[in-house]
Amino acid sequence: MALLEVRNLTMKFGSLIANHDVSFVVEEGAIVGLIGPNGAGKTTLFNCVSGVYKPTSGKIYYDGVDITRWPPHRVARLGAVRTFQVVRPLNDMNVLDNILVGAFLRTSSFEASLEVAEACLEMCHLEEYRNKRAGSLTIGLKKRLELARALATQPRLLMLDEVMAGLTGTELKDAMDLLRDIKARGITLLVVEHIMEALMPIADKVIVLDGGIKIAEGPPSEVVQNERVIAAYLGEKFSKRLRGMKA
Ligand SMILES: Nc1ncnc2c1ncn2[C@@H]1O[C@H](COP(=O)(O)OP(=O)(O)O)[C@@H](O)[C@H]1O
Ligand SMILES: [Mg+2]
Repeated sequence: MALLEVRNLTMKFGSLIANHDVSFVVEEGAIVGLIGPNGAGKTTLFNCVSGVYKPTSGKIYYDGVDITRWPPHRVARLGAVRTFQVVRPLNDMNVLDNILVGAFLRTSSFEASLEVAEACLEMCHLEEYRNKRAGSLTIGLKKRLELARALATQPRLLMLDEVMAGLTGTELKDAMDLLRDIKARGITLLVVEHIMEALMPIADKVIVLDGGIKIAEGPPSEVVQNERVIAAYLGEKFSKRLRGMKA
């Protein structure tokens, strides 16, 4: 079943067309990757789906409900939650309190929120930072905190905007494992990611944007061989290297 359906979505900023007639579905329970060069329109698409921008035309359906032009808090309450590419923790609050803010979307009970927040803290391996000021964290940890706070809202669709950017080596592997864990809990993921090596092994499907237009969609192993994707984004050499990777 399609949990999210984007139909003929167009978003214009004056004469600039950031998303042009984009259509796709995200199946419930899948990890779907959204890739493309800088300026391709990935973040704009997230902003349209999550209600931050009102699309110029087109429709967005979540769980069969037309959510086009709904405000962000209504979309979030329905279970579609996103993180921001530029992280926005509440810097003066500690890590646990930041996560609690997410949990309060579902309940006004402090005990219930605390239980959810503790679980998310643990799931994102942030226990040792629990009482640290969010503003004092490294960028990698701030991204993990964003993820924990989004998880605390108990989403059904989680949209992640470059949460793996800036991570290296083991951090990246941990992040991939975390996304697999999230999927195993039945949460559907739509993931904007530049790091193809991280996305390929975990994505069920990849959608490629270039200049606001969807140029390809399919399993990662197919998409990395797609001529348009190679020309617009991957390049021949990188495509060859990815093809050698185990999917
Ligand atoms: N609020 C905005 N006002 C004007 N132009 C915007 C705005 N947001 C994004 N854009 C433009 O839309 C295009 C797509 O941007 P974006 O969605 O951020 O791309 P990506 O996330 O793929 O790098 C870019 O040309 C960008 O400058
Ligand atoms: Mg972006």
